[in-house]
Amino acid sequence: MAILKIARMGHPVLRRPAEPVEDPTAPEIVHLVADMLDTLADAGGIGLAAPQVHVPKRVMIFTVPPHRTADGDGVAMTVLVNPVIEPLDEAKALGWEACLSVPGLTGAVPRWSHIRYRGHDLQGNLVAREARDFHARVVQHEFDHLEGILYPMRMADLSLLAFAEELKHGLPIEADGTPGED
Ligand code: NI
Repeated sequence: MAILKIARMGHPVLRRPAEPVEDPTAPEIVHLVADMLDTLADAGGIGLAAPQVHVPKRVMIFTVPPHRTADGDGVAMTVLVNPVIEPLDEAKALGWEACLSVPGLTGAVPRWSHIRYRGHDLQGNLVAREARDFHARVVQHEFDHLEGILYPMRMADLSLLAFAEELKHGLPIEADGTPGED
């Protein structure tokens, strides 16, 4: 296990679609995920996708803190290999996001509010869930990394992109969550 270097916005590995994983149970994928978990713990984030550690494969990990789900339970650390997402209705919400590949910045991003997603875990089992609100947002953010998309590319209003520290002087808009927290 190891802490890996995180690619920042501008690195080509973050701009191209990642490749499907043939076998989620393969030792190199298990090893990759162990290193991603170490890297995420060290960085203090809530989600990480393999391209962010310079590995262009369709692997992502995430967790949702208890206070960010309606039931207060949060979502335990989840590993998804070859994930797919579908929105379950048309509703979108604006919420603050941050990204380990875009350090220091935060932005208000529109995302689907209610989605279904599925993928495989490291045992090869299917993981299939519905998600709402912040849980849905985190999954969409990490999934986008596998498509070569960073959250600023999803923003409808770039005046809502800011250095998180500067927002202590006041928020430009009301949106879900806390700027820069993720
Ligand atoms: Ni990110």
